[in-house]
Amino acid sequence: MKIKSFKQTIVNNRIVKDNPDDLAKEAAMIFSAAALECASEKGLFTVALSGGSTPKLMHRLLAEEPFLSEIPWIRTHIFWVDERCVPEDHLSNNFAAAKKDLIDRVPIPESHVYPMPAQVPSEKGAVEYQRILSDFFNLGPGKLPHFDLIFLGMGTDGHTASLFPDQRVLEENERLVVSVKGGDPDVYRLTITIPVLNNARNIVFLISGRKKAHIIKSVFENNQVSLPAKRVCPVDGTLIWLMDREAASSLSISK
Ligand code: 6PG
Repeated sequence: MKIKSFKQTIVNNRIVKDNPDDLAKEAAMIFSAAALECASEKGLFTVALSGGSTPKLMHRLLAEEPFLSEIPWIRTHIFWVDERCVPEDHLSNNFAAAKKDLIDRVPIPESHVYPMPAQVPSEKGAVEYQRILSDFFNLGPGKLPHFDLIFLGMGTDGHTASLFPDQRVLEENERLVVSVKGGDPDVYRLTITIPVLNNARNIVFLISGRKKAHIIKSVFENNQVSLPAKRVCPVDGTLIWLMDREAASSLSISK
């Protein structure tokens, strides 16, 4: 099912908001709309979150009114797109950040929260999270999870999730979750793979800040450049680039 109730004029799958607060509000509205539609149409809502700094404002908003009361948390299942293999109390742990900003502040059942197993050797963690996804989505051999909504970020090098430029895992088309090393911090990580991303019903990139303007320009205006984020192209789903004016400052629509 595709989220029908976007409250925004979408120009070629791009939405530009004036500032990071409006960006976070729009993202929270999309989360809420998706949750309400999916919960009413099929009794559950599956969403995968990214790490990094951009989603923090949205996570905090979701734990406040009106979203706190309107989102069917009891029907919501939260997964992660990627995780750094660092201790859970480490500043760089994506789950720990989301736990503080969102999970601990909303009435979602603990059993509906699926952090990536980042405190075991990363190859083992990847196999374990693949099993968690396969069990939850009741996957047969070769089948892919169908997330209702995935939020992605993008680094200034065009990476998304923990899929970094020129890494072999970009070509992975069998495993659902892989272990990689790289990024900032340069640590072992777990990440879901491109085929899983592209099997989502709805994907929203959340991009904020002037430091992303050049890479946004590359994504939209430089077809020669192959970037991990440009491989995100849902097979049968919607893709929205939700940016603030700073991040979109290199594009004509932001004028
Ligand atoms: C991660 C993220 C990563 C993030 C981008 C953007 O764990 O590193 O999933 O893909 O979305 O690096 O991060 P910022 O939002 O901090 O710019």
